[in-house]
Amino acid sequence: MKALTYRGPSWVKVMSKPDPRIEHPGDVVLRVVRAAICGSDLHLYHGLVPDTRVGSTFGHEFAGVVEEVGPAVTTLKRGDRVVVPFNISCGACFFCQRGFTSVCDRSNTANEILSGVYGYSHTTGGYDGGQAEYVRVPYADVGPMKIPDDMDYEDVLFLSDILPTAYQAAEMGSIAQGDTVAIFGAGPVGLFAAKSAWLMGAGRVIVIDKEAYRLEFARAYARVETIHYEDAGRHDVVGRLRKMTENRGPDVCIDAVGCEASGSLLHKLTGLARLQAGAATALLWAVQAVRRAGHVVAIGVYGPPWNLVPLGELMNKGITLRAAQCNVKRYMPHLLEHIRAGRIDPKAIITHRGPLDAAPDLYRTFARKRDGCIKPVLVPNAA
Ligand SMILES: NC(=O)c1ccc[n+]([C@@H]2O[C@H](COP(=O)([O-])OP(=O)(O)OC[C@H]3O[C@@H](n4cnc5c(N)ncnc54)[C@H](O)[C@@H]3O)[C@@H](O)[C@H]2O)c1
Ligand SMILES: [Zn+2]
Ligand SMILES: [Zn+2]
Repeated sequence: MKALTYRGPSWVKVMSKPDPRIEHPGDVVLRVVRAAICGSDLHLYHGLVPDTRVGSTFGHEFAGVVEEVGPAVTTLKRGDRVVVPFNISCGACFFCQRGFTSVCDRSNTANEILSGVYGYSHTTGGYDGGQAEYVRVPYADVGPMKIPDDMDYEDVLFLSDILPTAYQAAEMGSIAQGDTVAIFGAGPVGLFAAKSAWLMGAGRVIVIDKEAYRLEFARAYARVETIHYEDAGRHDVVGRLRKMTENRGPDVCIDAVGCEASGSLLHKLTGLARLQAGAATALLWAVQAVRRAGHVVAIGVYGPPWNLVPLGELMNKGITLRAAQCNVKRYMPHLLEHIRAGRIDPKAIITHRGPLDAAPDLYRTFARKRDGCIKPVLVPNAA
């Protein structure tokens, strides 16, 4: 089959690879119909995720048709159309039983921090991802959700990750009716976090980024106020947010940027020198800006070992800090209803589609924020 493969930092190539096969009785093999490229893939693409091996295939946001079924699988059959959560989880361990599928005990033998994840380096188990013609799906009775007959792949594709991730972020912010919510990052995750904040009763939503085209998109798509932080002067984001909120600061701040944030030379240099895990600038701004006794949520991805985050400020301001990889599965049914009811239109953020062969170009466009790119989606096979 053809699959996207990692060759080295900022270098991916579509190559021929053996077809995946059933390796465990609980597996299925999926023919991939849609596979999105995520901001998280950019951390891999840029070589920032430890143990990303040459030859591995990325892709943790995908949907497709069941092609082969392992003998122990009871809920799926050949021909079923499914969307798959990015977390690989067993469904039976202590954590899975409590709904914390992102920290499954069994699916990632590489470390104790998180579950297995499709296409996300050997630190999450070394599973190949879905930016390929076919992908192996372990624990197939646990993760995949059947796509309702009246919905198409793109209606539900983002239930695999970014929509539940953003929704969980808003939920972790404990938004009260009328709250002001500031969201750092106007990427797909930030956009869906903005939509989710409205659904949860926010009174104001402010999105911060440096890409003018993304802020413009955010205003149209999610009816938010925006701050262009390079216009504001790099160090004045916090000041601007204070001014907009009677000098108190937003009630809730969400970091939807993660370890590749720009805006601080200190963070950038210490990140590049591996003195911290990337640049935690958005999280720093979130902690500084939020009102005392407010909520800060980190869903932008950070790797180990640690980051420059002001613990003293966090403690003394009485901030509640919450963070997580998303437990995708538990949000799927609820968010499917929001999509069906038209309260959220996830596919409207897709700006680029292409065949698998276009993947290297789409990675470049997305990474450099060119050509109005919000969300690129690959089409490895026809439906
Ligand atoms: N926790 C999870 O389960 C989970 C799931 C999916 C994605 N993520 C993470 O969420 C983050 C966002 O993903 P995405 O797909 O939207 O990425 P993206 O690259 O499309 O968007 C990130 C945006 O952040 C902006 N930005 C950079 N520095 C900033 C700063 N200091 N302040 C404000 N904005 C800044 C960039 O200009 C860009 O528009 C990534 O770190 C990704 O890994 C986490
Ligand atoms: Zn993702
Ligand atoms: Zn488990």
